[in-house]
Amino acid sequence: MTVSLQILPAAAWADRVAEELVARLRDRPDLRLCLPTGDTPGPVYAALAGATRAGAVSFERASIILLDEYLDLPPDSPARADGRLRRELLDHLEPPPTRFVPIDVDGPDPEAAARRHDAVAAEGLDLTLLGLGMNGHVGLNEPGSLPDAPTRIVRVTHGSRRVAVDRYGADRPPTAGITLGMDRLLGSDEVWLLVTGDRKSSILERALLGPEGPDCPASYLRRHRRLTVYADEPAAARLPPRLAGR
Ligand code: PGA
Repeated sequence: MTVSLQILPAAAWADRVAEELVARLRDRPDLRLCLPTGDTPGPVYAALAGATRAGAVSFERASIILLDEYLDLPPDSPARADGRLRRELLDHLEPPPTRFVPIDVDGPDPEAAARRHDAVAAEGLDLTLLGLGMNGHVGLNEPGSLPDAPTRIVRVTHGSRRVAVDRYGADRPPTAGITLGMDRLLGSDEVWLLVTGDRKSSILERALLGPEGPDCPASYLRRHRRLTVYADEPAAARLPPRLAGR
């Protein structure tokens, strides 16, 4: 396996990932960055906000492209990805990034919105950050997604609906969403998979060591030439020492 696996103490994880991203942005200020929301990246965004406040980095010339969005939640729902990314990161960036591209789920034509978002990703993604779903999804590429799955409208699985309500604060479960497809994620120049907490240890083991397959779309990321997995120690607990470099 050619995946680069970075296992970090839980207390240092977010700062290290943020430092790596700051380094990328310094190398390439006009970075085209695809970003997820969820509980995993929140601490990284807090660290990035701190780094920009301290003048260590600027997102001014960067473009930020949203990974996915629920289709049937109101714009002010706390679970909406666009609002969450604004609250956790974008609102703290001064000056703001040159371009933020949310997914237009409030307009009359979601199919057209998916096509437009896909066209933005097709201009090229330099770096894509992903969380890992408890069911192996990446973005809203739920189990059943193949590596060539396009950007599209998807049904949100039962488990992901519960996450939206129980953890993200939606007042009713979203049933559908728009996600960048596996094809675009695999087409990004570089991918970082962010995984924290012991509840993710089994699915991380599955994603990295089980057979590649649509039951765990994250397993297809192993095909990528430049995949880095940033796991904290609890999430990496089930990985064998040879893989973890222990
Ligand atoms: P989480 O979600 O970061 O909130 O655990 C990850 C995901 O479901 O993609």
